[in-house]
Amino acid sequence: MSKIKLHDKIFKPKISAAEISKAVSDVASSINKDLKGKKPLFLAVLNGSFMFASDLMKKIKIDCEISFVKVASYEATGTTGKVKQLIGINEDIKGRTVVIVEDIVDTGNTIENIWNQLHALGAVDVRIATLLYKPEAYTKTVPLNYVAIVASNDFIVGYGLDYNGLGRNLDSIFVLDYEATENETYINQKNQTTC
Ligand code: IMP
Ligand code: MG
Repeated sequence: MSKIKLHDKIFKPKISAAEISKAVSDVASSINKDLKGKKPLFLAVLNGSFMFASDLMKKIKIDCEISFVKVASYEATGTTGKVKQLIGINEDIKGRTVVIVEDIVDTGNTIENIWNQLHALGAVDVRIATLLYKPEAYTKTVPLNYVAIVASNDFIVGYGLDYNGLGRNLDSIFVLDYEATENETYINQKNQTTC
């Protein structure tokens, strides 16, 4: 895998598609075992978790449902500290076992916000499944039940995660390498266009 350019920044390969697939399978196995008979509602947090949620759900073998919420807290490569809810929780949560599905837990603002909402709505058991977790950035105490991959505190893109809208379609994960110089060009994978 080679480096890619997104907007003004160069990213280098970090986690391969094969590694991600193995980590997602491990999380699915744990959930299949722990939540058998509970008919959990998976609540995927858009936009970033769409790819993880899709791959995870294909590996869940117990009766379950899925729904979506949409929030935004990141601008460019940093958190704003505020969680904006763009699509709320529309399901009847009372008495349910709910698994929040996140792409990445960074400061934990997003996950804490949704976790609190679900408890207030009467969920009996709220669990968190996240593809990535940055322990150095985490400031909360909400337990993270299913972590697929522990990451360093660097800005990453791919497999659902974006840099200002770009990179979500990549099937592997890239880490920020350096600021691109004005005339620097890279062939981006998949679409083979130069930028
Ligand atoms: P938190 O609320 O600080 O935990 O941040 C959670 C959200 O910020 C994630 O769901 C992502 O959408 C976004 N985010 C955090 N770290 C990164 C990153 O390294 N790359 C891209 N998005 C990120
Ligand atoms: Mg997210």
